[in-house]
Amino acid sequence: MQMQLAVSDVIRAEADVLVVPVTEGALGRQRFFASIDAALGGTLTRLAEAQEFQGKAEQTLELATLGRLPAVRVVLVGLGSRRGHDAATLRTFAAVAARSANGLRVRSMVLGLPDKTAGSELRHVAEGLVLGAYRFTKYLTGDRAPKQTLERVDILRPAGKVTAAERRGLEIGIAVGEAVSLARDAVNEPANELSPAGLAALAIRIAKVGRLKVIVLDKKGILAKGMKLHYAVGQGSVNEPRFIHMTYIPKKRARERLVFVGKGLTFDSGGLSIKPAAGMGDMKTDMGGAAAVLGLMAAVAAVEPAVEVHGIIGAAENMPDGGAYRPGDVFGSLDGKTVEIVNTDAEGRLVLADALAYAARLEPDLIVDAATLTGACMVALGKSCTGYFATADGIARRLERAAALAGEQMWRLPLADDQREQLKSDIADLKHTGERWGGAITAALFLREFTAGHAWIHCDIAGPALSDRATGVIPKGGTGHGVLTFLALVEGVS
Ligand code: BES
Ligand code: MN
Ligand code: ZN
Repeated sequence: MQMQLAVSDVIRAEADVLVVPVTEGALGRQRFFASIDAALGGTLTRLAEAQEFQGKAEQTLELATLGRLPAVRVVLVGLGSRRGHDAATLRTFAAVAARSANGLRVRSMVLGLPDKTAGSELRHVAEGLVLGAYRFTKYLTGDRAPKQTLERVDILRPAGKVTAAERRGLEIGIAVGEAVSLARDAVNEPANELSPAGLAALAIRIAKVGRLKVIVLDKKGILAKGMKLHYAVGQGSVNEPRFIHMTYIPKKRARERLVFVGKGLTFDSGGLSIKPAAGMGDMKTDMGGAAAVLGLMAAVAAVEPAVEVHGIIGAAENMPDGGAYRPGDVFGSLDGKTVEIVNTDAEGRLVLADALAYAARLEPDLIVDAATLTGACMVALGKSCTGYFATADGIARRLERAAALAGEQMWRLPLADDQREQLKSDIADLKHTGERWGGAITAALFLREFTAGHAWIHCDIAGPALSDRATGVIPKGGTGHGVLTFLALVEGVS
């Protein structure tokens, strides 16, 4: 998508669509709204009243100008009362604008910005435009394929020289939006097209573009390294597992070393403890954590923060066959602990256990993992909220600040030590599942065993990795949830 900063009077702007931001309950008091309303002889106010358009967040009102303005259509986009974080508000505003432009099947748009938008906030506008315009159309042919997509956006700005910082803001925003889109694409891609080897190929491509280091271990390499849990999960599929380690090293001295770990199950049938047929197809998205890590690494390569960032992915396909691992099996792990398998459908924590042990060896300041780990977390928090666990309050606050800036919902759950005893096995160091109650917590407690005491945050993204409707910056389908929060965490802005 092309974006330009354009100096123009709003009533002279030529475009297929002219977007006008409106703060809730302050219709007439807004610059753009007032000039257009005057040019249209008060029609805008009357129509807004008739349609009960108050400027609530994400509310839109479209109208044709019928030759009274150079712009063919005007779309009012509500900002709400702007009590949230401004970055998130701007991103959502721009996303709603882009989505409505796509809905109107137009190629170009002129975007008015909310009053007092700072140059430094242009990045979030650009992010929102790319996120809102996102669609997964790869497999649509003929009539189903979209004929028009939003290609060009002119962003209105007051007169004066466009600064290099403003241009850089747009550039970074586009790159970040594209990094999230890449994560969404990976989640939407079906499992017959995206295997563990496919995830590794994607990582290699991202590393090449972003000049990152990348190491990939295949099935043999995973076993040779001692990641026996990861190996076990992958042993029942002809699509063999991969272990991926990407590294970004800043040119300047690194302030800290952060390691992100993603669950990359390209398909989770449940294995021999097979899942019911209903909804099994959604398990092509069981690599949402891996997608968040890939998106993050792509974004980090563009933003170039002064932080060392590692992206680690345990990729596998969980399938039942003659070679599959079984309930009752016992395996060693990279960490050295032995694990008794209870249910082959609790595969994510096994792959992550080895990946976390690997991460711990990097001597990180903080490990953050993302995983579509438990249905229990969705029961607890619903479909749009991540449940996260943190080993200390300081890092929990840091994650919450990052999530607020990103506009992603994350709620802390407890590492309740008393439930640890459910993981005791009669014949091995650990069982990998506990009882049904508190299933997200016992999963987290199991993972903690492999973090070697490092500062650690676990994000159970089972719900928000996928959305059943488009809202704000989020499309229907894969969301790329996590990329923006992790990027904000890396950048350390609040
Ligand atoms: N990938 C699933 C969790 C999941 C379920 C994510 C629904 C998104 C939507 C995970 O591997 C799994 O199967 N977890 C089991 C664990 C249980 C066997 C202890 C679950 O949540 O039922
Ligand atoms: Mn499973
Ligand atoms: Zn799974």
